[in-house]
Amino acid sequence: MSDFINGFWSNYIAVFTTAAIAGCALLLWITARKKVPARSDNTTGHVWDEDLTEMNNPLPLWWVGLFVLTIVFGIGYLFLYPGFGDYPGSLKWSTRGEYTAEVTTANKELEPLYAQFTAKAPEELAGDPAAMAVGERLFMNNCAQCHGSDARGGKGFPNLTDNDWLHGGTPDKINETITKGRIGMMPPMAAAVGSADDVKNVANYVLSLSGAPHDSVRAQLGKPKFVACAACHGADGKGNQAIGAPNLTDDIWLHGYGEQAVIAMVNNGKTNQMPAQEEKLTTAQIHVLTSYVWGLSHGRPQASAKQ
Ligand code: HEC
Ligand code: HEC
Repeated sequence: MSDFINGFWSNYIAVFTTAAIAGCALLLWITARKKVPARSDNTTGHVWDEDLTEMNNPLPLWWVGLFVLTIVFGIGYLFLYPGFGDYPGSLKWSTRGEYTAEVTTANKELEPLYAQFTAKAPEELAGDPAAMAVGERLFMNNCAQCHGSDARGGKGFPNLTDNDWLHGGTPDKINETITKGRIGMMPPMAAAVGSADDVKNVANYVLSLSGAPHDSVRAQLGKPKFVACAACHGADGKGNQAIGAPNLTDDIWLHGYGEQAVIAMVNNGKTNQMPAQEEKLTTAQIHVLTSYVWGLSHGRPQASAKQ
């Protein structure tokens, strides 16, 4: 119930639950008390379709018993389990608690398996097909939605199979990226560069760095403006992994290729985030994933080919 900002809905549910149970009990009580005067032949005196009469028998005891039992069960259930407003129930059971317990048990069972994996360095583990099969499954479940099932990424999501790294491609750096997450932040830079024309010029200079098609006159004019970018991307434009500033001299574009894409980057900036996994995955799982990701760009034996 913690999703609600006040107790209104909790009270609302509690009141209706109480009213419904009390209503059932009341109905039972009233029908038990109300006596319909019977005639000598034990019918109520109602006649339908000329000769259809209604007997005046009491409710069968087993039926009344079941009805009472459902009320008792309902009260007992609401006492033990969550259901009565935000009262958590005396057993303190919750789906979240059950899930956490299951994950903890599963992780415990897998400990011996992971112990073999954590004993090896990522470079070595990347050549172990059993570990890579586990790594591939972890990747599919936790990473593929953003980086793609082939890990080649897409616009805004880096390709993990090449040797171009925003934050560093050593096993240590990859591990750090997965564990703590990363934020790539480029502020809007248009004001620092100057007019719209200056922005266009610096964009052409950026394109010239990787030999992409560009206007060489504009690139020459834009070159001095690149000082505004050098603090992060380096004077030579080769980037800086310490702050996740990409290399602008290669042919790899995270946010799109061409003059318009670069102009948009300069005008709008970009904040891009890789979510931290330390809450979700164990350190052993992250170790296996690190090896898997490192292996993708280091020609490890393909685990999927062996499955
Ligand atoms: C919600 C989307 C999302 C998920 C899920 C996700 N990532 Fe990322 N990841 C990103 C983004 C976005 C970046 C780029 C961050 C930046 O621009 O600085 C990134 C960056 C990375 C990098 C750094 C790449 C480089 O060039 O330095 C690695 C390694 C990585 N992710 C691995 C993983 C792994 C392994 C998983 C699964 C446990 C995962 N990611 C799950 C979005 C995601
Ligand atoms: C404060 C640091 C910083 C400054 C200053 C900066 N950038 Fe960036 N830039 C970044 C970061 C970080 C990214 C990566 C964003 C991400 O993780 O997605 C980036 C991304 C880019 C990209 C996208 C690259 C790709 O692969 O798609 C281009 C183009 C770019 N910057 C150009 C420039 C230009 C031109 C300037 C100067 C006008 C500039 N940047 C100034 C930090 C900076």
